[in-house]
Amino acid sequence: MNKLKTNFCGIDMKNPIMTASGTFGWGKEYSDYFDPNVLGAIVLKGLTLEPRKGNPGTRIAETPSGMLNSIGLENPGFEHFKNITMKELEEDISTNLIVNLNGKTIEEYVELTEKIDKIDRIAGIELNISCPNVKDGGMAFGANPKIAAEVTRKVREVTKKPLIVKLSPNVTDISYIAKLVEDNGADAIAIINTLLGMAIDIEKKKPVLGNIFGGFSGPAVKPVALRIVYQVYKAVNIPILGMGGISSTKDAIEFMMAGASAVSLGTSIFTNPLLPVEVIEGLNKYCKEEKLKNISDIVGILHK
Ligand code: DOR
Repeated sequence: MNKLKTNFCGIDMKNPIMTASGTFGWGKEYSDYFDPNVLGAIVLKGLTLEPRKGNPGTRIAETPSGMLNSIGLENPGFEHFKNITMKELEEDISTNLIVNLNGKTIEEYVELTEKIDKIDRIAGIELNISCPNVKDGGMAFGANPKIAAEVTRKVREVTKKPLIVKLSPNVTDISYIAKLVEDNGADAIAIINTLLGMAIDIEKKKPVLGNIFGGFSGPAVKPVALRIVYQVYKAVNIPILGMGGISSTKDAIEFMMAGASAVSLGTSIFTNPLLPVEVIEGLNKYCKEEKLKNISDIVGILHK
């Protein structure tokens, strides 16, 4: 019996392991390392209605404590995604595909959702209202409770696909925003997007990133992400997709104990491309050792 089988907000998955948007490309980039279809789901790179070039200048900075990115949602836009990327994905990928959906305005989010809704192969939508690297919308939505609620409600009206809203840790009261988003129709919460950070080149006396600030990720953010998952679990009654610095099976178990029904692996895949396979095997072993019926037995166990 598969002890990792999970239904995450209506999406049937062989296990609760996903890859975080932007860190696993379109899903095929890692196929030299392992079969992407072993994953419960792949969350695709951030998508917008129109193509985007992303931010100018240096966009990635590695620091001793983690990685900074200021990509700025570079992507080929919906038409290319539908006509080319999806066709390529359909050839090789059989597991669940979740679209990470972005917009500059609420209208754009709604229009893109309507288009994504028509693609049967897409299992769910991760509504990204928390990209820290765009000045034209994005983060402002996730940081503003009223707009976060409104975009969720309007998108909800145009799709029946599972709707996972991705929130920003760069706010004062994430639990309040999570609850509002739940009340406005979200099926799940994805936490956390990256923490806003910066790095400085002391010789050039300039910020390393062209955009000055960037999203900070990697193992250093794990305690913060874990704390947020724990807090949000207390505030909402919808499932949580936990992420932020997970680099081992033990980390994944901690996120589930704090309240995550599924987890996404991100930055640590860059240093260990086999991490997703290791975590899936590790969770299977843990279920056997702990004599669990299903891995979901430990979800939120800290709150019981
Ligand atoms: O850290 C991030 N970088 N989070 C996002 O949501 C998008 C991404 C980017 O494209 O800048």
